[in-house]
Amino acid sequence: MVHFHVKHIRMDKFKLVFSVTLFVSMMALICFCISTVNDTLQKLEVYRQQYHGSGWDFHRKVFWSDSETKEGTHLSGEASDYDAANFEKEYKLAASKLNIEIPENEEKISRLPHCIIVGVSKCGTRALLEYLDLNPYVTAVPREINFFNNDSLYKNGLEWYRQEMPASYSNQITIEKSPDYFECPECPRRISAMNKTIKLIILLRDPVERLISQYMQFVDKYQNTDRKLPPFEQWVRDPKTGELNTRIPSLQVSIYADHIHNWYSYFPRKQILIVDSHKLTKSPLTELAKVESFLGLDPFLSEKDIYFNETKGFHCLRNRYTGKTRCLGRTKGRPHIEVQKEVLHALYNFYNPHNERLKNLLGYWMSWF
Ligand code: A3P
Repeated sequence: MVHFHVKHIRMDKFKLVFSVTLFVSMMALICFCISTVNDTLQKLEVYRQQYHGSGWDFHRKVFWSDSETKEGTHLSGEASDYDAANFEKEYKLAASKLNIEIPENEEKISRLPHCIIVGVSKCGTRALLEYLDLNPYVTAVPREINFFNNDSLYKNGLEWYRQEMPASYSNQITIEKSPDYFECPECPRRISAMNKTIKLIILLRDPVERLISQYMQFVDKYQNTDRKLPPFEQWVRDPKTGELNTRIPSLQVSIYADHIHNWYSYFPRKQILIVDSHKLTKSPLTELAKVESFLGLDPFLSEKDIYFNETKGFHCLRNRYTGKTRCLGRTKGRPHIEVQKEVLHALYNFYNPHNERLKNLLGYWMSWF
């Protein structure tokens, strides 16, 4: 009887120890699961904040959006407080690491751009940026920041500008695009003051086509407003003389030679890549190979990433990891109006000598000359 009692107590003790151990293990497991889930949620939130609005990414291709990428300007300021030496160090580090894997335990931070697509507006700047963003070693700035061409933004300083950049790893290139920098007289000097070794990209399209494309953009912009936009033929003419109004800013933008001259006076030619807009539109992969090489990137973009879409009539983008596809938005690749022949003629006559000057400046012909 006593013997049975002792055995019984021993069994109870054993059960107690076993239960406590089991309970503690379960609690540890639950804590571990909660912290892992929490950690993952935090990482996803960081991704969401970083890529919100771009609808686009690389290993981060989790938040894929079919909606049109928003473009717009922002607020910004004084460019004297930035540590240029540090930026230079970062830039060299990024360049030297381009052929290695994304560092796993490294924190992403915002970096000043290593490359800026400075123009020209309506020449395919959005398409180029979005194509490049498919390369895992590129981080594209989704919005047009318009920092260097806006005095009040420029006053905010380079630190403000840096914080507008999406976070990236040290082996990624950050690319901003603000095509209105092209015709802004102070922009080459201001960008050079930030980093004189920065790489710049300029896309050039037939100047008349570019002008018409710009006009189509205004049509779209003003269609539901009180502002009346005259027909194209009137818009480009001086109402008093009936001649071309060559003082219209949009007409001036297409005088490429003048603006490129300004860029060349601040940057060596090897730092500025001129991209033929027509070639980029027709066969993007050939042009993108040149851009990747210019940026010091290993060739990456291929048919896996870009394909021709019959319905859109343009190339569209494919996420090679998920297979999801996406075309640029409605405002890219709009149909153009038919312009009266004599006005077209006058415009080409106006641009021909400027194109000739451009040819002499570049030392070669563009496909659309
Ligand atoms: P249109 O709308 O006149 O056809 P930007 O992005 O600099 O504003 O340039 C817009 C132009 O990009 C479009 O002008 C279009 O011709 C050109 N483009 C080039 N590749 C494109 C693409 N894959 N999808 C849409 N438009 C593209």
